[in-house]
Formats: sequence, structure tokens, C-alpha cells
Amino acid sequence: MRKKFIAGNWKMYTSSITAELLASAIVKGLANETRVTVAVCPPFPFLARVAQVVRGTPVALGAQNCYPKEEGAFTGEVSPSMLVDVGCQYVILGHSERRQKNGETDAFINEKVHAALKAGLKVILCIGETLGDRQSNRTEVVLETQLTGSLAKISAEQLSNVVVAYEPVWAIGTGVNATPQQAQDAHVFIRKRVSQMCGEQAGQNLLIQYGGSAKPENVSALLHQPDVDGALVGGASLQADLFLAIIRLAIQ
Ligand code: PGA
Repeated sequence: MRKKFIAGNWKMYTSSITAELLASAIVKGLANETRVTVAVCPPFPFLARVAQVVRGTPVALGAQNCYPKEEGAFTGEVSPSMLVDVGCQYVILGHSERRQKNGETDAFINEKVHAALKAGLKVILCIGETLGDRQSNRTEVVLETQLTGSLAKISAEQLSNVVVAYEPVWAIGTGVNATPQQAQDAHVFIRKRVSQMCGEQAGQNLLIQYGGSAKPENVSALLHQPDVDGALVGGASLQADLFLAIIRLAIQ
């Protein structure tokens, strides 16, 4: 039985004050609920502050990126061990905004996945097709390429610390979510492909989140699909009441 996992991707939003308030409201609202795994992923500058708020609570801390080196002359970059040091358990890698706006390739994302796992982080690996890919029936080809590239040389044991977030690019921040059936179909494909790569058991245990305009109004039907194991929430994770409502729907 896979436990549902709801994570909030705060992107480049919040301030030190609002990040702390948001984290506090989530901690308070969640109380000691542990039937669902919950994580928040604030911007780098607020990680330490949010870490203090979530310490000792069921809310885990994640970062939104890392650099695939331990340390060195890499101006402006943040290493996986620095994220662990500040209290992170998770890191989001391969988000489509970074693939598109920062030119990140599957090979580079794969380096980051290895570095993050080595440092003891769990990885939320984002993959997803664009609208053009979907319209030209290339969704599975794109998912396949991103999976095999980003997860190259990952063992079944390492995979137990990887969560895949299926985020169709056309659904991110657009208000248009994938239908439950579209999500289910993509998740089945991802699970099948990962099972081929890392073994049937690893594939069955893999948590696959849906991401893309997830909101309390639409998330319930998505979360009821047999292969949808949670959600990676952007916009709606910036309001504690909406994020908590999504978490509650994941428990039902
Ligand atoms: P959204 O973002 O929920 O605002 O669409 C999801 C994401 O980018 O992870």
C-alpha cells in the first residue's frame, strides 16, 4: 500500500515572514496527522527559517533544486549536503520550469539525482510533456526519454528514495489540469517503464505524484486514480487553507 504524498512547491514566492507564517499554518492545520506524507519546498533563502518551524512535526522540508557537486568554486550554486545540513529531506529536480528556462538536460538532471541521493536526500523527479508533445501523440516517447535519461544508472535500492512527479507542462500554472484518466494513463506508463528499469517490486513501490493546477476542486478525482499517489502542488500550496484541503482530500 503506497502512502499518499502531498508536496508544496513554493517556487519563487513568499518572503521570510510569509514563508514562516505559511509553514506555521500548515504545521498547525496538519497537527499530528501521519496518514499522508507532507512536504513544503520554500525558496533557498527561507529554508533555514522554515526548518525551524517544521522541526519535530510531520511536515518535511524540501528544496527546489541543487547542484550536482559536493563543494567547490560554483558561484551561486547550492550542494545537496548543504540542503541536508539546513534540514531538508527532499529536493525537487527536473522541474519543467528549469528544463525550459534554464536549459536543464536529462543528463544534467541525472547527475543531480545521483548527487542528491548520495547526500541522503529523497528526490522528487519531475517529468512531463508539453502541449505540442501531447497533440502530436508524443507523450509516452517524451516520458520515456525523460525517465531513462534522468534515472540512468539508478538501482532499485536508490529508487526507493525517488518520487516521480508527472507534471504535464500544459497543466502547470494554467488552471487546466489533466483529466483523472489522462493522469492515470501517464502514471501507469511511468510505473511500467520504471518496473522494466529497476524491477517489478521497485515499480510497484514507486510513488508517482500528479502536478499541474492541482486544487481542492479537482484533486480528489485525481487522487482516487489507482496509480496517482499524491500531488506536487504549486499555486495552491501558497495558501495554507487550500494546501490543507488538498491534504485532507488525500486522506479520504
Ligand atoms: P501549479 O504548479 O500547481 O501552480 O500548476 C505545479 C508545479 O509546477 O509543481
